[in-house]
Amino acid sequence: MKTRIPLFLLASGLLVAAAGNSRGQAVALLHPEKVLGSERCEECHKQEILAWKASTHSRSNSVHRDAKTKDRAKEIAAKMGIRNVNDIPSHPLCTECHFTRQKVNNTLKVISGVSCESCHGAAKDYRDVHGDKDGIPSREERQKRSKAAGMLYPHEIASVAENCFSCHIVRDEKLVNVGGHKARSDGFNLVDWSAGEVRHNFYDAQYARNEKKNLETRIERKRLFHVVGMLLDLEHSLRGLARATDRNGKFYNTMGRQALAILKTQLPDVITKLGGEGSAPAELVEIQKIGAATKLKGPSADLLKAADAMAAQIEAFGKREDGTGLGALDPLLIPNPNGKAYVP
Ligand code: HEC
Ligand code: HEC
Ligand code: HEC
Ligand code: HEC
Repeated sequence: MKTRIPLFLLASGLLVAAAGNSRGQAVALLHPEKVLGSERCEECHKQEILAWKASTHSRSNSVHRDAKTKDRAKEIAAKMGIRNVNDIPSHPLCTECHFTRQKVNNTLKVISGVSCESCHGAAKDYRDVHGDKDGIPSREERQKRSKAAGMLYPHEIASVAENCFSCHIVRDEKLVNVGGHKARSDGFNLVDWSAGEVRHNFYDAQYARNEKKNLETRIERKRLFHVVGMLLDLEHSLRGLARATDRNGKFYNTMGRQALAILKTQLPDVITKLGGEGSAPAELVEIQKIGAATKLKGPSADLLKAADAMAAQIEAFGKREDGTGLGALDPLLIPNPNGKAYVP
């Protein structure tokens, strides 16, 4: 498997610490030769496609043309040394977060903005497997084979959500401090940002298809989204801080402030609500310990190691927990969806 190493990692000398670890660059691993494009989902997922088409993610293929954003795009590009705005979609500094690329006959093509596969994984090897109820009657077997073929399943929410944080928290210090790009989406949180314009839920809990209703995410899942989102936010902010070199820069401060807010306030609050260190999920307590034992100062290979250790805990927690035991967190879930959910 070929992995593209972001330029900033090469430049910062942190390559050794980061080698062999794909966290924080999930979207960079969206191999263009395995991308099919959203039209290849339409046959069976018409409603998901309509929801996606109504969302900002699909329009972001014109971030440099859309009236609302084109001036900013030009400005950021110019500061980053990209002279021609038409180069933005294929430029390595912008493409992985704003666009989906496909490789056909050895040519790389930008085919859309943030697409189905940006979140669910490049589909070439799983598209014909994951829904093949006749050929593979056991759902468990379908899932096993699709996962092995690169599919990121919504029920393993940490794997899908890792992508959100790879894009919504910027990793490149220069893009922020020099280019003037936002360091992170203001107020990004997994619960509210997936409940509005991003929402697409046309299978019920028993995987029966319902074309008529874009269902709200069940409360148990929302609790899980809340905790998993908070932890991924912490992990990715630490990765940013680990690579930051300018302590007076906006990038350093944004990453540091967010990591601190989660470690000192949000995570302890969640642990307390869940009954304290003795009864809260062990992974959360472990993550708090890792955080407490790590100096929150970048640049630092220790911070990357801490983020790696947290990532393992997040994955374990996301796979094991279904949210039924997290009811004490409901008071934290005051709905504030980002955008309007698509109505069929
Ligand atoms: C030929 C029909 C078909 C096509 C084409 C198809 N899917 Fe599916 N998809 C299904 C079926 C059927 C299910 C329900 C699977 C089950 O019950 O195990 C499903 C479920 C899913 C799920 C939810 C899985 C879960 O268990 O929660 C995702 C995500 C998904 N598809 C993504 C895609 C993407 C992305 C594409 C395009 C690249 C695509 N699908 C194309 C038939 C299809
Ligand atoms: C491949 C990168 C990428 C991934 C993965 C991604 N996003 Fe985004 N998202 C973007 C970009 C870029 C924009 C802004 C697009 C624009 O303005 O043209 C955006 C915009 C949005 C918006 C519109 C509102 C706003 O203020 O910009 C929401 C809501 C959103 N994303 C939620 C999510 C959630 C939830 C996830 C994960 C389930 C996610 N995103 C995954 C890149 C991504
Ligand atoms: C790490 C992922 C990432 C990279 C790399 C990235 N962007 Fe973005 N960009 C985003 C996200 C996410 C948003 C949406 C921000 C929000 O929700 O407010 C965004 C928003 C924007 C916007 C509109 C909002 C604004 O700031 O006014 C422009 C313009 C933009 N990006 C241009 C660029 C250009 C040009 C490049 C390359 C030089 C680039 N971006 C690289 C993730 C990225
Ligand atoms: C921004 C990331 C993102 C994008 C883009 C995205 N999905 Fe999803 N998808 C998710 C998340 C997160 C869930 C779980 C939602 C939940 O449980 O509330 C999900 C759930 C699903 C499901 C299971 C729920 C259902 O009934 O639909 C299917 C099927 C699916 N997605 C297919 C698609 C297809 C097809 C596309 C492209 C048209 C797409 N997704 C685009 C993140 C995304």
